[in-house]
Formats: sequence, C-alpha cells, structure tokens
Amino acid sequence: MIPHETKERILDTVRIEDIVGDFVSLKRRGANYLACCPFHNEKTPSFSVSPSKGIYKCFGCGKTGSAVGFLMEHENMTYPDALKYIAKKYGIDVVEEEEDPEAVIAKQRKESLTLVSEYAAKFFQDNLKEKEGRAVGYAYFKSRGLEDGTIEKFGLGWAPSSKRALANSARQAGYKEEYLVDTGLCTRYDDGNLGDRFYDRAMFPIHSVSGRVIAFGGRTLKTDKSVAKYVNSRETEIYVKNQSLYGIWFAKNTISKLDRCILVEGYLDVISMHQLGITNVVASSGTSLTDNQVRLIRRFTENVTIIYDGDSAGIHAALRGIGLVLEGGLNVKVVLLPDGDDPDSFSRKHSLEEVQEYIAEHEQDFIAFKTETLLGEAKDDPIKRANVITEIADTIALIPDPVKRTVYIDACASRFKIDSAIIFDRVHQSRDRSIIEAQKRKEREAAREQAQANQVADQSQQQQNHSQAGMPTKKESLTNKKLAPCEEELLSFLVNHGTSELCFDRDSEYYSQEQVLVAEFIDAALAGDDIVFANLPYQKVYDRYFELYDEGLEQEKIQQRLLNDPDMEISSAAASLMIEKYDLTVEAFRNSLTTQGTILVNFVPKSILAYKLKLVELTIERLTASLADPENTEDPGEILLQIQDNTNVKKLLCSKLGRVQ
Ligand code: CTP
Ligand code: MN
Repeated sequence: MIPHETKERILDTVRIEDIVGDFVSLKRRGANYLACCPFHNEKTPSFSVSPSKGIYKCFGCGKTGSAVGFLMEHENMTYPDALKYIAKKYGIDVVEEEEDPEAVIAKQRKESLTLVSEYAAKFFQDNLKEKEGRAVGYAYFKSRGLEDGTIEKFGLGWAPSSKRALANSARQAGYKEEYLVDTGLCTRYDDGNLGDRFYDRAMFPIHSVSGRVIAFGGRTLKTDKSVAKYVNSRETEIYVKNQSLYGIWFAKNTISKLDRCILVEGYLDVISMHQLGITNVVASSGTSLTDNQVRLIRRFTENVTIIYDGDSAGIHAALRGIGLVLEGGLNVKVVLLPDGDDPDSFSRKHSLEEVQEYIAEHEQDFIAFKTETLLGEAKDDPIKRANVITEIADTIALIPDPVKRTVYIDACASRFKIDSAIIFDRVHQSRDRSIIEAQKRKEREAAREQAQANQVADQSQQQQNHSQAGMPTKKESLTNKKLAPCEEELLSFLVNHGTSELCFDRDSEYYSQEQVLVAEFIDAALAGDDIVFANLPYQKVYDRYFELYDEGLEQEKIQQRLLNDPDMEISSAAASLMIEKYDLTVEAFRNSLTTQGTILVNFVPKSILAYKLKLVELTIERLTASLADPENTEDPGEILLQIQDNTNVKKLLCSKLGRVQ
C-alpha cells in the first residue's frame, strides 16, 4: 500500500508531458504538445497533451486521461504500479505501508501455490522430451501441426501415465505436500499417499495476465468416450476460472495495439492462430464469457471479434450468451467460418494473409448479424417478424452507451422499415425491466461473492485493487434505478452534443426561427416542469455542465473540465457518458445510417418525453400505493384527482411518443 501522503506528492510532482514523452515523441504546439496518437493508427497528429490541465486527449479516437491514466491505458499498469513508475522517475521514495498480517500470509500462500504450479509446468515440459512424452505427447502436438517454437512458447507438456510421477518429483525437489494438494495438482488418497490429478495427458499450462502459470488443462489422446477429453485444474486462490482467459498473457500487447480482441473456444484454436501470426487471440475455454472476463478484456480493448464454426450449432452459439458482452459495453463482431472448420483447422489450411482477409471480409456487427439471421429464419411470416423486432430491440437495450443505442435504433428501424419510435419505446421498456433484473442478479452475486470471500482469503484485496485501477463503481451511487436510464440518456446528449444546433423541420412542433442548441432545448424542457434529476451524480454533472456552458466554453473544453473535475462522482459519471465511439461498421446498416443532426432532432425531444412519461408513471404508482396505505392521512378524493390529472398527462405523452397504452 502506498501511503496517502506519498500518493499526493507523486500526483503533485508529475508532469504529464514527461510521462507521455517517455512513450510518444511530442512536438510543442503553442501551450500544448502534439503527437500521433499511440492508441490508434493515424498519419496526421491529433493527440494533444496539455501541461496546464495535466491531461492528454486524442481528438481522433477520443481517448483521454491523466498521467496515471496514460500509464494504465498505454502500459497496462495497475494504479499502484503507475504511481511507482512516476515516483521512480522523480526520485520520490515510496515506503509501502505494512499490509495487515493476514494479507501478507495470503500473499505468501499464493506465491507458494504459483511456484508449485510453475514447477509442475516445468516438469510436464521436461517430460515431453523424455521417452514416453516424446513418443506420445510430442508426436501428438506435431500431428496437430505445432512447431517446436510454438510448443516452447506455450509451455506445452506431457503428464506421464504413471499416476505418481509429479507427486514424487515435486516432493523430492522439496515442495510441500500441502501446496501440491491445494493447487489441485495432487490428491491425497486414503492411505495418506499423494497421487497426480493429471496423468497420461497432453498438458496446456494456463497463464495469468502477468504470465505466471496458475492452472492446467490436460487433454487425453484416447478416443475412448469413457475418458474425459479434458481435465482442468479446479478453482484455487490463484486460479479463479471466471476471471481467466486462456492466452491472455501472450495476446494482451497485441490486443492493445490492434485495439481488438479475437475470441475463440479452445486451447488449440488459440495456439494455431498465434502460430500463424494472429496474436490477439484468447479463449473462453468452451463456455460463454463471464462478467469478470469481459472486464479483463476491457482493460485492453473495447472491441471483440468472436469466431465461430459456420455450422448451425456455431451460429446458435453465437446468438446465445453475448448479452453480457454487450452489457459490458464491448463492441461485438462475429465471424462465421466455413462449415466444418474451427479456428484451429482453418488457420492450418490457410496462409496468414488468407485468414486475415477472410476475417476482414466476413466480420459482421453482432446486431446486424443477429437481425439478418433471425429475419432469414422468419421469412415473410408477419408474427415472426414482429418477434424478431422485439428481440433485436431487447438486444439493443443491453448496450450501455445511449448514443450507440440511438444509432442502432435508427439503423434497425430503417432495416425493418418501421417508425423508430416503436423500437425506441421497446428498448426503453426493456431497459427498465433489465435494471430490476440486474439489481436482483447483483444481490445474488453479492451473496455468492461474500461466501467466496470467506473461502478465498485474498480476493477482497484483489477487488480493491480493481476499483483503484480506475474502474468506477459508479452504479452504486445511483439511488433511483428506475429513472437512471432516462437521465443517463438525456445527459449523454447534453455532454456529447450540448452545443450542437437542432434544426427542426418547419412543420415540427419544435420549429423555431432562432437557433436552438441541444443544451438549451433540454434545459428549457426540464426547467419548464421544475424537474431535477433523481440521481445525485447525474444532477451534479448537469449543474456543472451548465456552469461551464454559461462561462461560454466550447463543448470540447466543457468535456475536459468535467473529466478532470475534482468531484469523483462528476468525473466518473462524465467519463462513462462520454464513450463516444461510433464504432459501428454495421455493414448491413451502414448506408441507412442517418446523419448525427437527424439523430439529435429525432431523439432529443423523444428522450425528454420518455423521461417525463417515466416520471408521471412513477407518480401515478406512488399515488395509487398511498391510496391503499392505511397510514395515509391525505384526503382520498384529493389523491384520486391527482391520479386523474397525471393520467391525462400520461395519455398526452404517450400519444406524442406514438405509444399505445
Ligand atoms: N473443454 C473442456 N472440457 C471438455 C471439453 C472442452 O474444458 N470436456 C474446453 C477446452 O478448453 C477446449 C474447449 O472447451 O479447448 C473447446 O472444446 P473442444 O472443441 O471439444 O476441444 P478442442 O480444444 O478444440 O480439442 P480438439 O481440437 O483437440 O478436439
Ligand atoms: Mn478443436
């Protein structure tokens, strides 16, 4: 733990241009520095570093942050490591505070477990060169087209068929039995002796993000159906399955550099693609992604391409289980391989160029892919088509970024040739529902995590590091979950497009001869009804936005100030609202994408109406509940009148939104 004062000193001392300058060559341009952006490919520099504000910002890809943020983003450092890097540079001594003794013990234990795993990895590797391993294991890897360099790089090995080989060797080398058992590498039999979990198998070590061996997958070479094809390590303190991805250590740098992660299913799929030269590939090991794996990927990129077999099982696998990935804010693309191929066989049949070309040509935006697949199945059946629309709307509803959602709604509407209000509406309903479900899920997860935390001593420490690493636990501070999506959407228009002009058609009820800017339009609409956001962080962003707006700052400036606001609630809410990447190479949709101006004119007023409708619905709910409440002292007649009034407003709003009640 870095003491608070040291941290303050580091942050006071750091100069952003020094840190960024370590990795990027900066040219002075007025008060700022300019360079080609290290986060995306470009020829003309749009990456700017502002010493006075202490931030960098790329006007091309939108990446922005502080010196610490730069190290975390560019070098994939954790928060404490970034601080230490800076301290070293400026000669600041970091004397870490003593951790509490329990944490120290847990850390030592993890280190011991890791050392045993690494010993085992070496043991399996060595055995690949011995008699049995050579004849069986090595021959197998060769038959799967693996080169010696690849076998070496991934640390592949052989677990001998004698059932005590590892146990004996490790004990002789002085490793404690306790750790052999606790890593799950060995089992203690009733007679007190140790036996190996892995024997007579080709071994795939699983590495952590930092390259340590934490677990194994062992594949049998027998075709006998009664033998499990894979035996995997069980969960341990060092191997939390749902937080690991096979290949992440070898892939993470390329994932960052290419700003894309390719996801496949199996060990050999990863290895074969790496051997071919496609090195941003990881595997979820046969299951669909978990929340934690999505978060792991997000440390390196927001863009995921999932490669599936082209048969119908593959297609349906592709449609399932992507919910979490979309919810995690990742942009998902799908590639289907020709029938009968998996990434392993495909990359062995083709050259690097051919595979790259195939991926580039067959990569489809996930939502477009889903739309086309489902529509193909529905044919002309109107009821089935209607179901498809509902299902696509529910999928769009999972995307956290309201601006992206809007673009998809628009594209989807024109694909189905229906009014986008219908889809907009369904998306909203679906988000309301999913927020309640998410809340329940979160409660269940919390309960489970609590149980796990009791078992797995060090986990809480890890999570703490996690949230320190700049991942805002923002949703916790949102007290009114029902109103959150609407407020978020309005704010996102404000923060990203507040100073854009709204050009309404002459026949629009909002038409005005004077120039109307998005910010003023929203403010007038809310002020007219005395509306204040129910979620405090959002209201704070709103107020701060208008303070800056009233200073006459440009949109870009306002955004920078919000991002660096000393109030963490403001800066983190603002950051999450500013994900402004229209990474929508929605092939099937591309031509139908309307311009940003049209989106704003269409959706800003609609968002306001939807928000007001939600407010009215909640008021009616509250009034109705108070009628039934025995403690209530208000005059029931009065309450009924209020319900009547609100119901009339609701009707009006619904009809404006084109919504059937
Ligand atoms: N898997 C597993 N346990 C199993 C089957 C599969 O853990 N009993 C995981 C493994 O991570 C495996 C992945 O799911 O790599 C994909 O399974 P599969 O396609 O059956 O295996 P491959 O690794 O592709 O094996 P191979 O190509 O050698 O048949
Ligand atoms: Mn396979």
